[in-house]
Amino acid sequence: MRVASELDLGEVYFKNEGQNPTGSFKDRGMTVAVTRAVEIGAKELVCASTGNTSASMAAYAARAGLRATVLIPHGKIAQGKLVQAIVHGARIQEVRGNFDKALQKARTLAATGRLYLVNSLNPYRIEGQKTLAFELWEQLRKVPDVIILPVGNAGNISAIWKGFWELKQLRATSRAPRMIGVQAAGAAPIAAAYAKGENSIVPWPSPETAASAIRIGAPASWKKALRAVRDSGGAMLAVSDHEILRAQRLLAAREGIFAEPASSASVAGLVKASRSKWFTRDESVVCVVTGHGLKDQGSVREAT
Ligand code: F0G
Repeated sequence: MRVASELDLGEVYFKNEGQNPTGSFKDRGMTVAVTRAVEIGAKELVCASTGNTSASMAAYAARAGLRATVLIPHGKIAQGKLVQAIVHGARIQEVRGNFDKALQKARTLAATGRLYLVNSLNPYRIEGQKTLAFELWEQLRKVPDVIILPVGNAGNISAIWKGFWELKQLRATSRAPRMIGVQAAGAAPIAAAYAKGENSIVPWPSPETAASAIRIGAPASWKKALRAVRDSGGAMLAVSDHEILRAQRLLAAREGIFAEPASSASVAGLVKASRSKWFTRDESVVCVVTGHGLKDQGSVREAT
């Protein structure tokens, strides 16, 4: 682990979700949600997305023979992700405004009963995404002490926490890891609430960060995310775009893993959490690298 030795850390692993079929962790939940859609006879799927959910939905919809409509914030998603949705044949609607506005619109469309919503508000998505916890446990043959992952709409941190919590309930494991969520400083309503010890978030109307996948000001699952970090004894941190882009280079240059900016936020979080002594050198840490860097080449070009 070259990053670990460079940062003078102990046992650090990177869980590379960029290796999934469409290049992000979204596939874990999407395959389950689309299977459910087929089971109940749905004909058309809908989601709002900062890019990866739409790429994943489009691919699984194509495979299942379903129509798919994606709502994306106008001009705000990485080119590679948009190309994925197009090539898999999804209908693309650009929404003026940010992700939060697109999600509102997707929920309204789904409420008509004609379209099946596959955002992480859909419990089947969460059931699929929680398998990351099971897989880590199988691969490491233990539960790590700490999990660090980026947080946008907050579905993934809720899902992974659910997975570890269930393993413990089943008595397969005796403990659960501390969950450390990482938001981009320009889109950090949950980290702000956590830092102030508050029990609810104040949505940010104009989130801004180079990590477009987590440019979200009103995370739908904020409550579950706050519960996950508090119940597990973890934390919710915020990292700057500069820290994110530096972490992207570090991971690529030292481990050979090219992660998109949102995914690199967890590596920036690793650096920050180790400096703030959120874990010790003898603890095991897993950094979840949520999506592939090739999806968002523009951010690298702009940073160089
Ligand atoms: N990392 C990447 C690469 C993402 O695409 C996302 C979310 C996250 C982290 C955060 O996960 O929302 O469950 O907290 N992307 C969504 C999308 C919003 O539309 O693709 P989260």
